[in-house]
Amino acid sequence: MTSILPNIRDLPKTELHMHIEGSLEPELIFALAKRNGVALPYASVDALRAAYAFTNLQSFLDIYYAGASVLLKEQDFYDMAMAYLERAHADNVIHTEMFFDPQTHTERGVAMDVVINGLHRACLDAKAKWGINALLILCFLRHLSEENAIETFKAALPLRSKFIGVGLDSSEVGHPPEKFARVFAMCKSEGLRLVAHAGEEGPPAYIWQALDVLGVRRIDHGVRCLEDAALVARLAKDRIPLTVCPLSNLKLRVTPDLRQHPLKKMLDAGLCVTINSDDPAYFGGYMNANWKATFEALDLTAADAVTLARNSFEAAFVDDATRAGYVAKLDEFIKS
Ligand code: ADE
Ligand code: ZN
Repeated sequence: MTSILPNIRDLPKTELHMHIEGSLEPELIFALAKRNGVALPYASVDALRAAYAFTNLQSFLDIYYAGASVLLKEQDFYDMAMAYLERAHADNVIHTEMFFDPQTHTERGVAMDVVINGLHRACLDAKAKWGINALLILCFLRHLSEENAIETFKAALPLRSKFIGVGLDSSEVGHPPEKFARVFAMCKSEGLRLVAHAGEEGPPAYIWQALDVLGVRRIDHGVRCLEDAALVARLAKDRIPLTVCPLSNLKLRVTPDLRQHPLKKMLDAGLCVTINSDDPAYFGGYMNANWKATFEALDLTAADAVTLARNSFEAAFVDDATRAGYVAKLDEFIKS
């Protein structure tokens, strides 16, 4: 049934897996490069866009980190986040949890407070302007050492009130979650929410480690869980949400074709699956583009749409009253 398609825009939803640096559109990269006097290795917006032909996660990350090099001042982080939040609002995303990668910036000499204050100011302004509830999750780069992650955590602690959790991203294979056991324990004792990318390119063992060694409450991607029946049973029993990103999986060749994407099988297995955009400027679309492409490719139904939206509210890091408010909005939409 495709009758839900025209209504996907109006369906209230939450986005739980997007990297704010992955929302930098080529036009904004060039505008910021000009504003900050940064030289780019691409002659034009079109030349940069033409380079977005990825073969795997690493081929994407190399370009993604190069794009982020134009971010220098607090206003740059603010402008980037506001551009994303306006688009998210247009897709009727009423709550979003945005990842940011401070090490990408601090390694280039940008101060931690420049990064966090710029992003956080955008969260406040977007709430006032569009009513969208925007929260921040600090991600550690797993290709760097745990010592570097601990230093990053300590540098961010004075700004603790401006982010709600920590995650783990970047090159997955060869950098298992257990490498970050100590820093995640430190973050947990600070009361931070814990998530980690696992099972995107890496094996199911990385998902087990994220759960049992790091103690995460949500898995980012996790699509390779289907290779391990005991893991699927565990994820289903504990209602561990999986923040799946279909267009990302297509562009990074985690799946050869959206029609073969595992999302439907994951839903059928009773998993708490959600749809997200990951790096929307690089993978061909924001939230509703992901929803639309996935619904068309997998022939999902209106009931699936409601399940996915409900899952997204269940998985959000909010208090019970806020969650109840979101669910009430969804119920109102279903009745209308
Ligand atoms: N950083 C940005 N996007 C990512 C992804 N899909 N996987 C791992 N790290 C990332
Ligand atoms: Zn991601």
